[in-house]
Amino acid sequence: KAAEKGGWSSFMAKEISEQPEAVANTLRTRIVDGAVVLPDLGDLAAHLGEVDRIIIIACGTASYAGMLGKYAIEKWARIPVEVQLSHEFRYSDPIITPTTLVVSISQSGETMDTLMAVKYAIEAGAKTLSICNTQGATIARESDAVIYTHAGPEVAVASTKAFVAQIAALYLFGLYLAQVRETLMPAEVRGALKELSAIPAKLEKVLKTSTRIRDLAKWMSDSRAVLFLGRHVGYPVALEGALKLKELAYIHAEGFAAGELKHGPIALIEPGQPVFVVVPSPRDPNSLHAKVVSNIQEIRARGARILAVAEQGDAAVLPFADEVIPIPLAGALFEPLLAVVPLQIFAMELATAKGLDVDQPRNLAKSVTVE
Ligand code: G6P
Repeated sequence: KAAEKGGWSSFMAKEISEQPEAVANTLRTRIVDGAVVLPDLGDLAAHLGEVDRIIIIACGTASYAGMLGKYAIEKWARIPVEVQLSHEFRYSDPIITPTTLVVSISQSGETMDTLMAVKYAIEAGAKTLSICNTQGATIARESDAVIYTHAGPEVAVASTKAFVAQIAALYLFGLYLAQVRETLMPAEVRGALKELSAIPAKLEKVLKTSTRIRDLAKWMSDSRAVLFLGRHVGYPVALEGALKLKELAYIHAEGFAAGELKHGPIALIEPGQPVFVVVPSPRDPNSLHAKVVSNIQEIRARGARILAVAEQGDAAVLPFADEVIPIPLAGALFEPLLAVVPLQIFAMELATAKGLDVDQPRNLAKSVTVE
């Protein structure tokens, strides 16, 4: 086992460090001359022009990758996308037609809830695409086509490198759809692919900030609850940050959309309450930065301890944050690939400080093969 960990203290630490390769390997061979090529799609490719609705199904971490896929596909390919938890999907009597594409996301490709949802979709006449990290897995075999994420084997129960690889695969697929449907100009596709290809090197930079986060996690190891806020693509990142902390450190953690704060969750804020805030870039075209900074001010005034994950050089956040974890500049949709990493490291380090087994958290299984 020690040899398999390649000198790392845990598979989790190793897999977090492997995220630059996970993304790079998922992109490799699929970007040619500034365009996406996906021979993986096989016969499904011919049907993509007529798809008028996409339903993404997944569980756990993969479902948060799915939420990010929705933002990207809707923005780039202008197709309505819905994200459903696999185990809820078939019980909602979903509307499925032959022009519905059901995209399942699963690291293992064996999650029973997701497999049953895929079977239901096939039965109902949908086209199916699987995004999967395990060659030859059942969900991949059942689907019309599969885009494999090449994150390499993920051993730690809680997912890390598979998540960033899933986002990369979904973004490739979104840009592919935009090419097919001509909703983006070739230069726009090329620009987005340039952003995506720059992510592995930026991930390397983010990984270098881990020592600071370790100290932070140590100081916070007796926290009873931690909140996570994000907006737009920062929202799924907040949800994933909270899930990682629950899974690894057994701390009550919740992720919120920052705009929802005033509609309830702000009542939870009391002096000393730690709140991670995923801050949008000040260059964000939706101008959400100012709104999130104002959220930070509101909770700070009520005593919250603010841990901001913000773009490097974001001076507007500094006066209001107790701690700023900088991430490199990236286009709006691409920030989640970077912002999630400090949150993964935080959960791992906090669990380690509590003496917990980060690879095998209690009560969890890597692949849940029961419904
Ligand atoms: C389990 C794991 C999670 C994972 C989820 C979905 O609950 O503990 O880490 O996100 O299954 O797994 P999948 O293999 O379908 O991506």
